[in-house]
Amino acid sequence: MARVMIIGGDLPVDLTARLQVEHEVGYGTHADLRTGRHAGIASAEAMILIGQPAIDDEVLAKAPRLTVIALRAVGYDKVDLEACARRGVTVCNTPGVLSRAVADLTVMLVLGAVRNLRGAIDHVSDGWSRGAAKPALGADLRGKTIGLVGMGGIAREVAHSCAEGFGMQIAYTSRSGPVEDIDYPGPGWLPLTELLASSDIVSLHLPHTPDTDRLIGQAELSAMRPGSFLVNTSRGALVDESALVDALAQGQLAGAALDVLAQEPPDPNHPLLHLDNVLITPHIGSATAETRRSMAELAVQNVLQVLAGQTPATPVGP
Ligand code: DGY
Repeated sequence: MARVMIIGGDLPVDLTARLQVEHEVGYGTHADLRTGRHAGIASAEAMILIGQPAIDDEVLAKAPRLTVIALRAVGYDKVDLEACARRGVTVCNTPGVLSRAVADLTVMLVLGAVRNLRGAIDHVSDGWSRGAAKPALGADLRGKTIGLVGMGGIAREVAHSCAEGFGMQIAYTSRSGPVEDIDYPGPGWLPLTELLASSDIVSLHLPHTPDTDRLIGQAELSAMRPGSFLVNTSRGALVDESALVDALAQGQLAGAALDVLAQEPPDPNHPLLHLDNVLITPHIGSATAETRRSMAELAVQNVLQVLAGQTPATPVGP
C-alpha cells in the first residue's frame, strides 16, 4: 500500500475509491508542498496535482519517497523535469483528452473578441441606457484569416471549427513545417512573421518553454495587421504583456481575448484587466465536467500504472 496525495483539489468519488482499493489517499494544498510540514507529503509515493503548483528540487526534497507525479493538466511548464529525472520521479500529464474543450473556448474567445462581447456586456451592466452609445460594431468571421501559432491537437481542433464551422481561412506555423493532412482554404503554413502580417486573428497554441517565452513581443505585435486581434488559451508567458498593453492602448490591435496570463491570478491592478478592448477568462480552457473527468481518469490511471511497476499511459520526460 502506497500513500497517494491529491494536491490542490479533489477527484470524483469513484476515482478516489479506485485508488483506495490498493492505496492510502491523503490531501494537501499547493502551500503544503513548499512548507514540508505535512506528514502526508513526506511519506507520499505518488501525487496527483490539481492546478499548476511549481515543482522544483526544493519541493522534491520534501517528498523523498516520491516515484510519480501525475498532473491533471496537459501543460508541464511548472515542473522541473530534470530534477524529477535525477530523483527518479516519473512525471505524467493528460494530453489529448482536453483538446476539444480548449479549442471550444478558443473559438468562444475568437467570437468574443471579434463581436466585441466585452463592450456589449459593459453596455448592459452600465444600464443599457438609450442615451449611451451602443458598443462598436463587430465583424463577420466568414472569410477572415485565423493564424494559428503551433499545430498540435488543440490547434487542429480550432482549425477544423474555424474552417468548417465559420468559413474562415486558415494560416498556421509550426516548427516542423507544413503538416500533410492540414488542408483548409487559406494561406496554410507560413513563417511566423508572414503569419502575423496575414492574419485577422492570431491564436497561440504552443507550450511555454525557454524558446517560446515572450515569443510575442513588441516586434511581433507591430508585425500584426493593424486592427487585428490576439487570442491566447495556451500560456500567458508566451506574450510580453507590457508590449501587448501598449499595442492595445495605441490601437495597433483592435482587441485581445485571453484565457491565460503570465501571473495567475493577476494583480488586481494589472493593466490588461482594465482595458475595455480586452476579454479575459480565468484559465478555464479545460473546465467542462466531461473533460475534467477524463483528465482525472487519466491521472489516476497513470498513478496506478507506475505504482504497479508498469509504464504509464502518458509520461512526459526531458
Ligand atoms: C492545462 O491542462 O495545461 C491547461 O492549461 C488547462 O486549461
